[in-house]
Amino acid sequence: MKQHPEKPRGRLGVLLPGLGAVATTFIAGVCAIRKGIARPVGSFTQMGTIRLGKRTENRRPIVKDFVPLADLDSLVFGGWDIYEDNVYEAAVKAGVLDTRLLERLRDELSAIVPMTAVFDRNYVRRLDGPNVKRGTDKMALAEALMEDIERFRKENRCSALVMIWCASTEIFIEEEDVHGSIEAFEEGLRRNHPAISPSMIYAYAAIRMGIPYANGAPNLSADIPALVELAKRTRAPIAGKDFKTGQTLMKTTIAPGLKARSLGVKGWFSMNILGNRDGEVLDDPASFKTKETSKLGVLGSIFEQDMHAHLYDDLYHKIRIEYYPPRGDNKESWDNIDIFGWLDYPMQIKINFLCRDSILAAPIVLDLALLLDLARRAEMSGIQEWLSFFFKSPQTREGLRPQHDLFQQLMKLENTLRYIQGENLITHLGLDYYEEPETR
Ligand SMILES: NC(=O)c1ccc[n+]([C@@H]2O[C@H](COP(=O)([O-])OP(=O)(O)OC[C@H]3O[C@@H](n4cnc5c(N)ncnc54)[C@H](O)[C@@H]3O)[C@@H](O)[C@H]2O)c1
Repeated sequence: MKQHPEKPRGRLGVLLPGLGAVATTFIAGVCAIRKGIARPVGSFTQMGTIRLGKRTENRRPIVKDFVPLADLDSLVFGGWDIYEDNVYEAAVKAGVLDTRLLERLRDELSAIVPMTAVFDRNYVRRLDGPNVKRGTDKMALAEALMEDIERFRKENRCSALVMIWCASTEIFIEEEDVHGSIEAFEEGLRRNHPAISPSMIYAYAAIRMGIPYANGAPNLSADIPALVELAKRTRAPIAGKDFKTGQTLMKTTIAPGLKARSLGVKGWFSMNILGNRDGEVLDDPASFKTKETSKLGVLGSIFEQDMHAHLYDDLYHKIRIEYYPPRGDNKESWDNIDIFGWLDYPMQIKINFLCRDSILAAPIVLDLALLLDLARRAEMSGIQEWLSFFFKSPQTREGLRPQHDLFQQLMKLENTLRYIQGENLITHLGLDYYEEPETR
């Protein structure tokens, strides 16, 4: 790792496989913010502040003013989709943003036209579209993506690129031998191995070119030994999986509080209805299983069940996602939490979150793009665990337990930024209280 990385220069190209609700809300949002007609609410880098030094120093810059991040004006966008709609048309169809706002951005958004996608219905069974590459084998498809990326870089005169997977959730795939090493994976690409999904092909293309890659969906994608090894070799930072937005954001906010107070939990039932295209894809049991696995992991890790058996041993955790078209992108979730306290007396908590899925996800795409680009300049390659804050199912090094507690994730994120800039890490120990008054 290199402290005090150089400042970004030139344009940063943000490449997005999947130009659906999340990606178009992100792009339109950045364009609106640049025009001064909207604010980057929900973005850690644009609105969050970071404390530096002692509390008495009163230093609390906005994150973007502390670490050298690419400026929003320097961002250019590109992407792939199986549908031919440009970003303006796709944003109108996604129905997330007000059409009056989209109208003001029409020219810029219409100019972003999706490149032909690497897609296979076997991995996302509820979708089919015409804008798809044909190739003799999966290696040829990866090479075609690399050509797309190089062309994009040249046409847009980018000095750096990042790729963030914003495409649909693929079916559940478990790690196999073909994912075990770069050699096995490349051989698998040439032989069209069925355990290599399109999201792995995009990840391979980016990582092989040394481009930072993040996965916003729960499918494995770069979370396999072959691509972790490749990322180390090409010095590409990678992160994933599954943007932490609505219900899981609530869960990883509340569960650490219950645990901190040693309150027991017997059951946590999470229900969701959503009506966007993501909901339609998740209506397929194979894609739902991928999402369910990602959402289920968080509580066991936060409650550390193995160490606190008497409080969390009986925990029954169930997740349902129902496709309900009338709601579109405006998801509603209900959580019923059965807890117990002093002398085992039972209590209940009910949470009803009426959220907007893509409004919560878009700032995460922006933060990841900027922070991954920073990681590249700071020569941080491979898995970036300090970015766990943004994910439901954080990618970690083999053998390590992911950290799900939002507040521990935030501390790790902030301390990493302090370290990068050569500032003291903050432990909240307040040692100076114990020193003699004259040395305080
Ligand atoms: N919105 C959230 O809060 C949130 C949170 C966590 C994760 N996610 C994940 O983010 C992803 C995007 O969500 P969304 O609401 O924008 O979904 P969406 O369905 O609106 O957009 C996904 C787009 O990806 C395209 N696509 C599918 N496979 C592709 C491929 N192989 N190559 C190129 N394009 C492809 C689809 O045509 C679609 O336009 C989903 O996987 C979702 O599970 C979203």
